[in-house]
Amino acid sequence: MRRHLLSVDDVDADEIAALLATATEMHDVQRRQVKKLPALRGRTVINLFFEDSTRTRSSFEIAGKWLSADTVNITGKGSSASKGESLRDTVRTIAAMGVDALVIRHGASGSAQQVAQWVDASVVNAGDGTHEHPSQALLDAYTLQQRMGPLEGRHVVLVGDLTHSRVFRSNVKCLTKLGAEVTAVAPPTLMPSGVEAWSREAGFATSYDLDEVLPKADAVMMLRVQRERMAGGYFPSAREYTVGYGLTRDRLDVLGPDVPICHPGPMNRGLEIAADAADAAQSLVLDQVSAGVAVRMAILYHLLAGEDS
Ligand code: CP
Repeated sequence: MRRHLLSVDDVDADEIAALLATATEMHDVQRRQVKKLPALRGRTVINLFFEDSTRTRSSFEIAGKWLSADTVNITGKGSSASKGESLRDTVRTIAAMGVDALVIRHGASGSAQQVAQWVDASVVNAGDGTHEHPSQALLDAYTLQQRMGPLEGRHVVLVGDLTHSRVFRSNVKCLTKLGAEVTAVAPPTLMPSGVEAWSREAGFATSYDLDEVLPKADAVMMLRVQRERMAGGYFPSAREYTVGYGLTRDRLDVLGPDVPICHPGPMNRGLEIAADAADAAQSLVLDQVSAGVAVRMAILYHLLAGEDS
């Protein structure tokens, strides 16, 4: 594996398979009473978050701790960035303390790539603007694989605010690398510009019609409507969005009880996903959260533990 995880482009199908195999072992550790491995003893991992997070930040912190690394959390609001310090000065300052890995979330697309050029530490992209969220895609693939077996040839439907979704971009790359058939569904206003060329090149389908696609899904992933990234009106009303693209009670019945439902969280209950669907027996939402720790342990382990470990 390369020194950084900035994008799903940084891992090929074999490396994804190796990471997910390690995650399976890490998941076993997670289920033990004593959840501690010595693998990263003496290594230091900094979580630097300029955007809010519940799942990603805490699971990277737990992952580092369970691997015996020293972990420190820094948020934009509580750091000298709030006094005007630049991102470059911030990360170079932190790196000068002798850290081994920097896990960064930032609102600017491409920021993780830039940080990797400024520091010697391994950099993990924990979400950069609307660009990518590779660890989320890896944990989604792990979760689906645990439930469905190999994803080769399975039809995964990604639905929602695709324009603003870094989870969508990383998931398309990860799922297609694993041989899944992917259909991306969104209203025309939330379908990313340039998707026609990208879908042709990457080999995934697009649709504006959720009701036509849903009966053919082997798994469905609902993506959050990111109102904080929307400057204008992308849809007339929340109700109209839900009628066209929400996983409602009626659509849950169409899906049937055996089709897994994913959502990376945080969920807008009642908007893109009904409570009936979020809490259904086939919902993998909390499995994704649990897998997040195991997969992030695997990522830190592969980046920092070295070939001999
Ligand atoms: N899925 C995800 O990135 O969640 P958080 O924003 O809570 O980290």
